[in-house]
Amino acid sequence: MLSFKSARPRQIGNCLLADVGVNACNKQHLRLASYAVEFHEMVESLAEKEPDKQDWRQIDALFSRITRFVAVHFREEEDLMVKHGYPDYARHRTLHEKFIKDLANVQSQINNRNIRFKGKLSTMLWNWLFNHINVEDYKYREFFLEKGVK
Ligand SMILES: [Fe+2]
Ligand SMILES: [Fe+2]
Repeated sequence: MLSFKSARPRQIGNCLLADVGVNACNKQHLRLASYAVEFHEMVESLAEKEPDKQDWRQIDALFSRITRFVAVHFREEEDLMVKHGYPDYARHRTLHEKFIKDLANVQSQINNRNIRFKGKLSTMLWNWLFNHINVEDYKYREFFLEKGVK
């Protein structure tokens, strides 16, 4: 479990997400968090029933919105790292790639209409994003601040 004492993230207002110091990234993180909440609510709503045609349409739309925006965000974050020579870039990129693979896995289960809207799935996005942003992304805060990136 994430330890706030060790990470000590500065929060955006009273939001649980850390302020990573780069405005564009903060904004994208908030949007990702709202997608994660939407996804959570959708999974919860399907826990007790079989998805019908309309449900599948919503699932397809939401999940492709999520994967597209995750890709956009990761690319922008990585581009910024490369541009300024962030020393932990390679490891950070590996973490992004691993998550993209996890998403692709879920995507193929959705495509095959073979997915269980139960258990861990409902918090999967939120948990990953929350930990990644508050622990891993937060690590670049000082670096970009020193480089004058806001
Ligand atoms: Fe990020
Ligand atoms: Fe990241």
